[in-house]
Amino acid sequence: MTQSPKKLHIKTFGCQMNAYDSERMAEALQPAGFELTEAMDDADLVILNTCHIREKAAEKVYSELGRVRLNKEARKARGRDTMVAVAGCVAQAEGEEIIARAPVVDIVVGPQSLHRLAGLVADAAKGKRPVETEFPADGKFTALPKRTGGKRQVSAFVTVQEGCDKFCTFCVVPYTRGAEYSRPASEIVAEVEQLASLGVREVTLLGQNVNAYHGDGEDGAAWSLARLLARLAKIPSIARLRFTTSHPRDMDDDLIALFGDEEKLMPYLHLPYQAGSDRILAAMNRKHTAEEYERLIERIRAGRPDIALSTDIIVGFPGETDEDFQATLDVAKRVGFAQAFSFKYSARPGTPGAELDGQVPEPVKKERLAVLQAQLEDSRRAFDHATVGRRLPVLFEGKGRKPGQVAGRSPYLQAVYVDGPETLIGHIAEVDISAAGPNSLTGVMNAGFEWREPIRAAV
Ligand code: SAH
Ligand code: SF4
Ligand code: F3S
Repeated sequence: MTQSPKKLHIKTFGCQMNAYDSERMAEALQPAGFELTEAMDDADLVILNTCHIREKAAEKVYSELGRVRLNKEARKARGRDTMVAVAGCVAQAEGEEIIARAPVVDIVVGPQSLHRLAGLVADAAKGKRPVETEFPADGKFTALPKRTGGKRQVSAFVTVQEGCDKFCTFCVVPYTRGAEYSRPASEIVAEVEQLASLGVREVTLLGQNVNAYHGDGEDGAAWSLARLLARLAKIPSIARLRFTTSHPRDMDDDLIALFGDEEKLMPYLHLPYQAGSDRILAAMNRKHTAEEYERLIERIRAGRPDIALSTDIIVGFPGETDEDFQATLDVAKRVGFAQAFSFKYSARPGTPGAELDGQVPEPVKKERLAVLQAQLEDSRRAFDHATVGRRLPVLFEGKGRKPGQVAGRSPYLQAVYVDGPETLIGHIAEVDISAAGPNSLTGVMNAGFEWREPIRAAV
């Protein structure tokens, strides 16, 4: 019996690892006859892939479930059934509670159990409401089907490491994603080769603690992230490599050196420092001082002076004084970040930070965040403006906002728009950067530039 295709809608919250997981869920459901749709009201199965990192993120799930319920009722009136699944880190953290609180939900599935989704959908079709939040012993990655690259992608994510053993006192990740796990190198190489054969040119390796990667290598030894990146750089049609997120404690010499040595490794590093005061860093259990962080930045810049640095910062961690906050501003000023993500501290249930005395009042956090973000924005603009007048290789990923425009990324991950043909998509071309806008750069193609790359040779 051939089944008519069923429609699947996935809404993704949170980090890039969730974006990756969403792609894998879509692929895992393909054999069961599900096709992706952008329109929720068209979908027979709606998956919310959720984030638990801050209170606001977790709350979004319940407001979104309100919309999902209305959609389900409207479809019901048209004689259509809708199945609803909650996946991701809220699913992991709250499990049964979601089933109790939200009658609209049919399935709850944690990030480590994605490969069991098709089975859970079959159970739900029989009227069960399965909750799967174990950390199963059977390998998720080996059980998932091969990548099919649903959308035609130029740039793709590949999770290489999951979970975290660092236990920063503010963070839920060690609880929602579990213990640190590194995928074997051979599995990653096969996945990247498969993506390359689908036309992917850039791969970003993902992990909550990606530079703690220590998977089994192809030679049987444990490989570091630097070894893995060097191996992936040998795949001919992969032109660019990136990785995120790193922890300052795990930046080893080989990885630092690779920024200078490996042409395919892009000069961009996301390295959270969270706070500039050593007292706060200790209370956060970050395991480094502000000075150690800045020394590390100096070493990285010595090998790759033009590197674009990005970071995460939290303001208003319990006990943070005005002086502590000033120290955070000072570090940011001295480093000069090209990009930064900053947050008000959010007390998360079950984390040690939530129990600490000296919780900072909301208005103080708000004020500090505004001051910090203004400074970070100046720094970002300064970085962007410094690229005006330079000739940069841009990897084109898609159409631009205006007709006749194509959009791509500079090595520093800046969005770049130029007038040019769509045939450029999937290729690297040199662009003379002429202006920096609020969120992107514009430029003109270097007229003398000759393409050295065959058009989508790998497809
Ligand atoms: N693994 C990464 C980041 C994980 S979460 C790392 O080690 O840095 C992404 C960012 O969210 C963190 O870097 C931190 O800045 C922020 N974050 C995490 N928990 C938070 C909380 N409870 N309140 C506010 N921000 C938080
Ligand atoms: Fe969270 Fe810290 Fe682990 Fe990053 S290193 S995921 S902030 S516990
Ligand atoms: Fe959020 Fe989970 Fe990522 S809590 S930030 S989706 S690891």
